[in-house]
Amino acid sequence: MEAYLREIESLFTPSKEKLKELTGIFQKELEIGLVRRDGMLKALPTFVYNLPSGMESGKFLTVDLGGTNLRIGLVELFGSGRFTIKKDSVVIPETLKSGSGYGIFNFIAENIEKFLEHPEIETELPLKLGFTFSFPVQQESLAHGRILGWSKEIECNDVIGMDAVALLQVALHSRGLEIAVEALINDTVGTLLAQVYRDKKTKMSVILGTGSNAAYVEQCSHLTKEENESNKVVTVINIEWGSFGDGANFLPTTRFDALLDEESKNPGIQRFEKMISGMYLGEIFRLILLEAVENGLIRSTGWTISKPYGIKTKQMSNFHESYILGAVEECKSIANDKFGLFILDDDLKYVSRLCELISLRSCYLCAVGITAVHRHLLETSLISAKEMFSVALDGALYQRYPNYSKILQDLVCMMDGKEEEVCRIILVMAEDLSSIGAAAAIAAQK
Ligand code: GLC
Repeated sequence: MEAYLREIESLFTPSKEKLKELTGIFQKELEIGLVRRDGMLKALPTFVYNLPSGMESGKFLTVDLGGTNLRIGLVELFGSGRFTIKKDSVVIPETLKSGSGYGIFNFIAENIEKFLEHPEIETELPLKLGFTFSFPVQQESLAHGRILGWSKEIECNDVIGMDAVALLQVALHSRGLEIAVEALINDTVGTLLAQVYRDKKTKMSVILGTGSNAAYVEQCSHLTKEENESNKVVTVINIEWGSFGDGANFLPTTRFDALLDEESKNPGIQRFEKMISGMYLGEIFRLILLEAVENGLIRSTGWTISKPYGIKTKQMSNFHESYILGAVEECKSIANDKFGLFILDDDLKYVSRLCELISLRSCYLCAVGITAVHRHLLETSLISAKEMFSVALDGALYQRYPNYSKILQDLVCMMDGKEEEVCRIILVMAEDLSSIGAAAAIAAQK
């Protein structure tokens, strides 16, 4: 097992040179994405031109469709960065994820109706709704956007090319709900706007959840592939960084990444995301463990290990955390019950090291994206070298994976080359805030 682990270690640890190379390519691809529609990074315009001042107010309904959950909220903004939210969350049923897209939009409308019937939700219709839609969309205005495709193992292909707002609006009207969808935003954009509402210094946001992606504040004059509204100075760009590396071969992928990609619902697509996000880390872990079982290095006790996506990142995270805490019995029982493995006490450290290597690689790649955006903004003078660069982060991987947030902070400082000086990149936890951003997006347009 020790020798096997050494091989995995070398496969999963990118060298300093590789990280430098990737950061350079990322910055270049981002700059291409701003001027061309067919770039590797989509760098999608969001039609958000008015950043929240923090003084916005009003009551808004919000819906957030992610890769795992549907979240519905009633948000009230009070100005001075203050807000309240009453919210509910439901898991998106697996059957809807590969059925007709209309099913998903009906599911949203049905759950909004249920939410509004809840006795604690004291509000009256009509209401304005901010729609956080965490998939790539080609926006035509703040409240219109065509679905470019799905990600995170959802494939409801019959609605690709359609307007996500119109689909939701029709589903709401068919239930007689007087709700007007007034903003369509990506979760990264929602997180960014919410954090800007609380702290104007924020320039970027990153999601590390089921999927991974980032958004940032850009100068309108740099986005030359689209016509910007006249007189507007800054806007928000949804990078869609999950597709970094698609169609090229510079990512440090391994045989496990190749296998995962081949067996995924979108082969060849979202290669960067497949190395970083919560949807996939558990599966990479399973593929390595499966190989170890096949090589006779670990004993399998059940079928979980041969079932695609049989190990969730959350379980891998629980295992890793238990190991760090020295809870040997807990580790063994997770391995037994959740992974279907019998692991000897002596081998626990190797399996835990595997978790560490996979999560560390995710951190490294995420740090590449953050450092590249920071450099782009420095070189194009949107921020100065002395300025603090505040990044809002959200998503279960960032919030809950053991040591992830701390390691990522150390890595961005290291990669920014500012080890001895004060590190100017500050990562801030913006937990579950994208709905606040959706409400702020509507309020800030007034
Ligand atoms: C996927 C989606 C993207 C979203 C991210 C995080 O990468 O394509 O739109 O922001 O997941 O949820």
